[in-house]
Amino acid sequence: MNKATRQAVIAGNWKMNKTPAQATALINEMKPLVAEADCKVVLCVPFIDIPAAIEAAKGSNIEIGAENVHFKANGAYTGEISAEMLVEAGVKYVVIGHSERRQYFGETDQTVNLRTLAAVNAGLTAIVCVGETLEQRELGYTETLLKFQTKMALTNISAEQLKNIIVAYEPVWAIGTGVTATAEQADEGNGFVREAIAEVYGKEVAETVTIQYGGSMNAKNADELVAKVNVDGGLIGGASLKAEDFAVIVKAASK
Ligand code: 13P
Repeated sequence: MNKATRQAVIAGNWKMNKTPAQATALINEMKPLVAEADCKVVLCVPFIDIPAAIEAAKGSNIEIGAENVHFKANGAYTGEISAEMLVEAGVKYVVIGHSERRQYFGETDQTVNLRTLAAVNAGLTAIVCVGETLEQRELGYTETLLKFQTKMALTNISAEQLKNIIVAYEPVWAIGTGVTATAEQADEGNGFVREAIAEVYGKEVAETVTIQYGGSMNAKNADELVAKVNVDGGLIGGASLKAEDFAVIVKAASK
């Protein structure tokens, strides 16, 4: 398998944006614009928006994801949401280990792994995020860090379960900054992730895994990024809040 046969996935990550009513309006605006997509189209939305988003997306090619999931099945974990709750709500995807959660909410490689296991065991597709900070890049640790984060996140995940894993390479310095990685940097980072998967599961399996790029991907640069051999779509923040921009990115990944 190679890029031509791997499934490209364009996923929006709305972060802490949009009320349920705004979610409905935005999805209604997006639906006709992405109807012809030849890639998977996913919107990962705040928990509170999930019912409205699923209702709005009904009958369209847009699938709905969450932005996090807890690793325990249930119990005294105030404020958390379980995988079972997401599945029952109709959620198909979940973002795990986003750098904002690592940075602001104490997410570690170990909890990323636990959440990933909980998600795939419940039948969700996990979009697992990895990425280096600017400091780590400047010190020359990008490859080491990306491989470590990838392997840690996938600990105890079987080759079979890997079918329900997407990895998103999101350099921290490119998120929400308007500074996009060059297409070469994105391809290289995604390549390190694929190598890490190959080191554990073998090259053949690694070739089947969808690896996205994320970090200031927008309507202008998407074409160049998704054309790269290791870039199988994108995880889109800011540009997923604008229907037309998001549709242009979906179109770029559909070529
Ligand atoms: P931006 O596209 O806003 O840089 O965000 C990227 C991101 O963090 C997606 O998860």
